Amino acid sequence: MASPAVLPQHDLSSPAYRTIVFAPIGKDAYLIAEMLERRGLSSSPVSSITGFCDEIRRGAGAAILAEEALRENSMREILRVLEDQPSWSDFPLILLTTGGRVTLQSERLREFRRPLGNLFLLERPIRPETLLGTLEIALRGRRRQYQIHDQMLQYANAQEALLRSEKLAVTGRLAASIAHEINNPLEAVTNLLYLTRTASSPEKAADYLAAAEQELARVTEITKQTLRFYREPSKRTEIDVAAVVNSVLTLFRSRIASADIIVKTDFRDRSATLLASAGELRQIVSNLVGNAIDAMRLGGSLCLRLSREKVCHADGRQALRLTISDSGTGIPVEVVPKIFEPFISTKEETGTGLGLWVADEIVKRNGWQIRVRSSQNLVHRGTTFVLKMPVAG
Ligand SMILES: Nc1ncnc2c1ncn2[C@@H]1O[C@H](COP(=O)(O)OP(=O)(O)OP(=O)(O)O)[C@@H](O)[C@H]1O
Ligand SMILES: [Mg+2]
Repeated sequence: MASPAVLPQHDLSSPAYRTIVFAPIGKDAYLIAEMLERRGLSSSPVSSITGFCDEIRRGAGAAILAEEALRENSMREILRVLEDQPSWSDFPLILLTTGGRVTLQSERLREFRRPLGNLFLLERPIRPETLLGTLEIALRGRRRQYQIHDQMLQYANAQEALLRSEKLAVTGRLAASIAHEINNPLEAVTNLLYLTRTASSPEKAADYLAAAEQELARVTEITKQTLRFYREPSKRTEIDVAAVVNSVLTLFRSRIASADIIVKTDFRDRSATLLASAGELRQIVSNLVGNAIDAMRLGGSLCLRLSREKVCHADGRQALRLTISDSGTGIPVEVVPKIFEPFISTKEETGTGLGLWVADEIVKRNGWQIRVRSSQNLVHRGTTFVLKMPVAG
């Protein structure tokens, strides 16, 4: 019979290459250990069933066990160890049986060993080649199990790293969006303070200061909202939508005037109210109006329309529809599908690409809808955003 191949010399110190040997009678244990050593395989002889189980727990490639070591108690101990194995492990046992006639004792042993899972039976007397060949198969299977275990660990580590980086990205986006959203009101406060200092009368100065106070209140509102972005919806009250839109237009008044933009408002439903957070709606409208102004550097027209949808929705609710159209540059076709994603901007240094992302997050959180239509065609150039907000009842 051909001599079995020696296992490839990988990391022989790894437990996957170590064989536990328990043969309590005669010189068997010693002879087996010597035979394995000659083949370059490490072995750990043990002299008790407790030692045998401890070695399995420590981790090993396989175990060779002489049948005479199996008593009822020892069998239970081994079974307990094997039952405690993690899901990736199916420890291989090579059981050296005693040949000969079927006796009551051999029958009982057969019953006992039935629950032992990954079991190889070798009847004595055994040829060394047979034992080594069987051991090689057992060790090879065991090495696969260790590889699967390593892969599972690597996968778990990679997943943990991914989660950590995702958390970091969310934190970064949160910080960037707070900075982005408070920038507008802070600029307004700076301008208003300047106007206060140079105001022609104390009444005018008081007006400017009141406006500055409102802007600072908006900063507070924005930071609060952003920080609880994914936790709880901000406080909702019955709000006057047209008034919110007008307050945004007031803020942009000087930019609108200096860019030669004509503003048309068409509030068909002047009394339209909505259960929402005024701060959130103002955030959306100021991002949309800010973008429209950016797109009309050489002048144009900005049209804001507020109406009530005639058709009831499937859930029986009507919706308020706010349309904001500009005659600006239009959005490049390839950018349109991505404009609500974070950091998508065509404005290079002047844009962070967060405005529409923030607006969309608020829209989604409130169960609203936002749609965009844009054209760069010279005849009908411009962009229209439609915001639909279902009203209660
Ligand atoms: N009304 C519009 N007209 C033309 N392009 C627009 C309009 N609205 C949005 N866009 C395009 O969508 C992009 C994303 O807009 P978004 O408001 O998210 O970011 P941004 O304006 O570039 O930067 P910021 O974070 O300062 O708002 C803009 O860079 C622009 O290319
Ligand atoms: Mg913007």
